[in-house]
Amino acid sequence: MAKLLIIDDDEQVREILNVNLKELGHKVFLAENGAEGIAAVEKYSPDLIICDLIMPDMNGLQVLEKVKNYDVHIQVILFTAYYDMSSIIKAMQKGAFDYIQKPLDIEQLKIKINRALQIQTISQQLEAHISEEGEEYQLDNSLIGRTPAMKEIFKNIGQLSSNKVSVLIQGESGTGKELIAKVIHYNGISKDQPFVAINCTALSRELLESELFGHVKGAFTGAIKDKKGKFELAREGTVFLDEISEMSLELQAKLLRVLQEREFEKVGGEFTQSMNARIIAASNKDLSKLVEEGKFREDLYYRLKVFTIDLPPLRERKEDIPLLVVHFLKKLNRELHKNVMKVPMNVMELLQDYDWPGNVRELENVLMQAIVLSSNDVLLEENIHLHKTLNNGHLQKVELISLEEVEKRHIKMVLEKVKGDKQKAIEILGISKPTLYNKLEKYKLT
Ligand SMILES: Nc1ncnc2c1ncn2[C@@H]1O[C@H](COP(=O)(O)OP(=O)(O)OP(=O)(O)O)[C@@H](O)[C@H]1O
Ligand SMILES: [Mg+2]
Repeated sequence: MAKLLIIDDDEQVREILNVNLKELGHKVFLAENGAEGIAAVEKYSPDLIICDLIMPDMNGLQVLEKVKNYDVHIQVILFTAYYDMSSIIKAMQKGAFDYIQKPLDIEQLKIKINRALQIQTISQQLEAHISEEGEEYQLDNSLIGRTPAMKEIFKNIGQLSSNKVSVLIQGESGTGKELIAKVIHYNGISKDQPFVAINCTALSRELLESELFGHVKGAFTGAIKDKKGKFELAREGTVFLDEISEMSLELQAKLLRVLQEREFEKVGGEFTQSMNARIIAASNKDLSKLVEEGKFREDLYYRLKVFTIDLPPLRERKEDIPLLVVHFLKKLNRELHKNVMKVPMNVMELLQDYDWPGNVRELENVLMQAIVLSSNDVLLEENIHLHKTLNNGHLQKVELISLEEVEKRHIKMVLEKVKGDKQKAIEILGISKPTLYNKLEKYKLT
C-alpha cells in the first residue's frame, strides 16, 4: 500500500481516480490546485503524485519543481490534456517519472503507478548499498578488483614501483592491459617522466621503426628533418609497446638489442643513444605459442617475460562485477552528465551471469549505452543490451560502438517497434519532429 496524492482542478477526474486507486489498496489524498497540493505533500509525505499539467494558478511543472525540491524520492506522473511535447520534455528533465495523456486511461495509469512505485522501492534499497561500496573504493579510483587474482596484481604493481624492470602484460582484449601499464607507471619511481604508448599493429614496419627509434633527416624519402622516437621521448619514463606480437621479426631483433644493451641509433643515424625508459609490453595473444610457431623470437620472449602479469578474463573474476559496475556508473555519469545510480538486483544478476567476451571494456560499453538510454536514475534491464553471440563455441570479439551509433540503433529500433509511425516515435524518443527528421537524414534511416 502506498500513499498517493492526486492534484487536479477537475473534480470528476479526482473522483474517478479516488475510487479506482483506493480499490488497489492505496491510501489516496486529493487536492484541487497546486497550493493545496504542496500543502498536502508536506502534511502526508506521499510516495507518488499524479498531477494535472494545466491548472489555473500553479501549473504542473511548478508543482513538480516544488515537490522535487522538497523530496526527490517522490515520484510524479503528469497529466496532459492535449499533446504538448515541449512541456513533456521539460517535465521529464525536471524529474517527472512519466506522463499520461487525457482522456484518462485507468489501466494505463495503473501500470505506470505500479512501475513508479516498484522503481522507488528498488532505488531506496540500493542507494545505501552503492554509497557504502563507493566509500570503500575511493582509495584507489582507477583499478578495480578484489578477487585473489586482482590482489596478486596489486601486489605486483607494488613490487614494480621501486625499480624499472621490463614488464610483459598478457590478457584477452579489454582486460585492462593498458590501464595496468599506466598504473605501474604512475605508481613508480618515474611517475613525473613521460608515459609513451605505441601500438605495434597500427603501423607498417618502416613507420614503426622510425616511431620507436626516431630518424635523421634524409634517412628515407619524406624524412625532411630529424625526428625523435618514443625511446627518446619517454626519457626516464615508460614506453608502452601495445600488441607486441604484431611486431615484425626484424624489428624484434632490434628491440632485443635495446633491452640488452640499453642503447640504440636513430634510423639512418650513426650516433648511439642510451635508452633510459622502462619497457612495458602487452599482448592479447599467447606469446609462448607464437614462439613455438616461429612467429616471435624466443630470446626476446625470455627477456620480456621476466616479470609477467597475466590478467584474468572478467568471466573468471565475476565477483568483481558489482564493484566495476559502481565504478563505471560514477565515471560515466560524470562524463555523460547523467545520474543513473540505482541498480536493481535483477540487473546486477544479469550482468554477473553474462560471460563478457569483451571483458571489462565490454562491460563499460554496455553500461555507457544503458546510461545514454536511461530517462531516470535507475539502470533498467530494458536498456542493457548484451551480445550473446556464440560462434563455433568461441565468443566473438565484441564490437565497440560510438555514441552516435548507439543513438542510430535506438532510433531504428523504436521506428521498427512503432512500425514507422513517426508521431509515436517522437513521443517515445522525447525529441521534436524536426530533430527526428534531421536524425533520420543524418543516419540515412529513411
Ligand atoms: N580493473 C579495472 N578497473 C577499472 N577499469 C578497468 C579495469 N580493467 C579495465 N578497465 C577499463 O576497461 C577499459 C579497457 O581497458 P584497457 O584498454 O586497458 O584494455 P586492454 O587489455 O588494453 O584491451 P585491448 O587488448 O583491447 O587493447 C578501459 O576503459 C579501462 O579503464
Ligand atoms: Mg589495449
